[in-house]
Parts: sequence; C-alpha cells; structure tokens
Amino acid sequence: MFLVSVPATSANVGAGFDCLGLALSMRGNFIFRQIDQGVSIKGCDKSYCNEDNLVYVAFKKTVESIQGSISGVEITIDCNIPLQRGLGSSAVCIVAGCVGANALLGFPLSLDDIFAICTEIEGHPDNVSPAIFGGLTLSFMSNGTPITIPYEVHPSLHFMAVVPKTTISTKEARAILPKQLSYEDAVFNIGHCAGFLRGLETGNPDLIKISCGDRLHEPYRKQLIPEYEPLHKLCQQFHALALLISGSGSTMLVISDTSHSLEQIKQKLSLTCDVTCHLLSVEQKGVIVKEVI
Ligand code: HSE
Repeated sequence: MFLVSVPATSANVGAGFDCLGLALSMRGNFIFRQIDQGVSIKGCDKSYCNEDNLVYVAFKKTVESIQGSISGVEITIDCNIPLQRGLGSSAVCIVAGCVGANALLGFPLSLDDIFAICTEIEGHPDNVSPAIFGGLTLSFMSNGTPITIPYEVHPSLHFMAVVPKTTISTKEARAILPKQLSYEDAVFNIGHCAGFLRGLETGNPDLIKISCGDRLHEPYRKQLIPEYEPLHKLCQQFHALALLISGSGSTMLVISDTSHSLEQIKQKLSLTCDVTCHLLSVEQKGVIVKEVI
C-alpha cells in the first residue's frame, strides 16, 4: 500500500503563459492498495467514484504504457485542492495516478518517464512539472519530449491564493484568448518573463513589481473574474508586489515581501468578496511516495 502526496500548482506565473509553474504548500494525498479485482475509489464525491476518475484514468494509462498488470486497485482520496480554479487539481490527479501505478508495479519508471506520461495525459507540461519536481519550473516541449528547468524563489517572498467561488474551465478560458498576437505583445512577454524570473530568484521587490505584467492571457481572463478588480485595488493599497491569475483562473495569486500586507488584503477583501484566502509558501518537494502499512 502506498501513499502518494502531490502539491497544488499555479501555472503561468505572470508572463510565462503555458511555460512557468509553481508548486504551492497545499497537497492532495492518495492511498493506492492492490486488491483482487476491479476498481474501488473512496474519499471523494460519489459522482467521481468511478472509472472516469482522472486519478484512475492516469493509473490505468501508466499500467498500459509499460504493459504492466495489476489485478485491481483501491484508491482513497484526501484532497481539498479546489477544482477548476487554476490550482492544478487535474495535474494533481494525473500525477497521483501515474505515481501510484508506478509504486504498485515496483517502481519501473523514472521521474522523467512519469513527467512524459503525465504531460501526454494533461496536454501541457506547465502544471505537471512543478507537481512532480516541486518549486518553480520552466517547461516546454522539444521534439515531443517535455523539458523542465528549475528556478529559485527567494525565501523572503510570501504568497496568498485568493480562491473565488466561481469555477472556470480551462477549455472556456482558452477559448476566449485571441488566435493571434502582435510582435509588440510577444516582446512584452519575453522581457517580462525573464525579468520576473530574476525578480523571484533575487527577491528584488522593484524588479518583481515592474516585470509582473502579462499580455497573453490575463487581460482577457480577468473579465471572467469579478473579484479581480477589487483585489487589484487592495494589492495597490497594501503594497503587494504582484497579482497574477493562477493558471486559467479563477484563483489569483498575490505575492508580497511581508505576510502582514497579505493579512491586510485578506481582511479587507473578506468585507466585500466571497473568497477563500490561503497563505502559502513555495513547496520545494514535488510528488512524494511512501509505503504505508
Ligand atoms: N497554462 C494553462 C492555461 C494552465 O493558462 O491555460 C491551465 O491548465
């Protein structure tokens, strides 16, 4: 029997659309136990307790990908990561299923193999990369192979995920993006992405502030999030360094160099908006697997 623990992730991280991802200190835990036959899923809403559960889909695909065989599996889920809110819940399920299968098969796969399988299932590597490797990662595809590069985040930085009640499907949030973009916007994002990475690495507040813009997705997606503008105003009032849309939303990530300013934003925001705020840190460890009795 194995416990698999996977962190939530925030993709895009400003100007790094579809490339950057950050693992956060919020985890989903999954126990995999081999049984005589069939599939038994416990611990989540009944509507997810079937073979269409993404954890099981990834589990099954992983077993098939190496032509392995497992008689049956019981999966017990303990995961409070909000669904369809841009915190990488689908990557969490996919990574858990893949790593759970690998464990029950006796660990034939490397982390790079797992990364490739999970990226294929998810369709893009930006969430699965930090969910597997932890920390801040830049990832992209090279000739069909997912590549990941780790980046540092300065320990002086504090993070707060602001999670609205509204769900947003990634499909819907991708459909509203324009099909083409200008050279000017592409250049803007290249410069801001590189600057922001250096800002996060050094903790330089001025650099983080000046390079936190994005023109590829945030201008379009913020219209789907009514809480964006009130939060933006509070971020300015209480001197946050950056406000980002986490993945395809609706969660927004606030970065500050003091936990006090995040507390103030949280308190004021609760007076006007129905959101849940989580004070988080960067999770340096990605997926964890251990044998349990
Ligand atoms: N990079 C993706 C997007 C993350 O923003 O659409 C969501 O899965």
